[in-house]
Amino acid sequence: MEKTLVIIKPGAIQRGLIGEVIHRFERKGIQLCGIKMLQLTDEILTEHYAHLAQRSFFKRIKDSMMITPVIVCCLKGFDAVNIVHEMAGKTNGREAAFGTIRGDFSMSIQENIIHTSDTVENAEVELARFFSETEIFEFDQYNLNFLYANDEI
Ligand code: PPS
Repeated sequence: MEKTLVIIKPGAIQRGLIGEVIHRFERKGIQLCGIKMLQLTDEILTEHYAHLAQRSFFKRIKDSMMITPVIVCCLKGFDAVNIVHEMAGKTNGREAAFGTIRGDFSMSIQENIIHTSDTVENAEVELARFFSETEIFEFDQYNLNFLYANDEI
């Protein structure tokens, strides 16, 4: 099974959307196997958003991610990276489809509720950035037989 990273951004925390976001992934059948609140720093954000270093909004997005602590989640499931990314919706909340998290709760490119890993390779790197090995838990998901057919698990 794949594991992926979700960061619930400060804007979502201020707006009281932590439970709503996690509820959506739980209802889908994706397992929450790591979660914590932490205050991000300029150092870790410079690494996390390194691919955006040349963009005009680089400092602005980093600053926005430090306004309050964030919630980082490790989510697990078959094809979890793509499913979680698709459930977030397009980056720009004004363009994201209704029914997606951003489509339902965001009007912004930057204030777009959550960050999600976009590839399996990035998920591995990003999870290691925010979680130590002991903070990600391996435990049985007893409803697997009701989430999948026998030949899928
Ligand atoms: S890009 O531009 O193709 O790299 O964009 P994308 O992968 O969709 O977005 C990466 C993150 O950059 C943020 N972003 C912006 N922030 C502020 N202003 C503007 N114009 C802007 N464009 C993109 C966007 O919120 C993404 O953050 P995360 O945390 O990954 O969702």
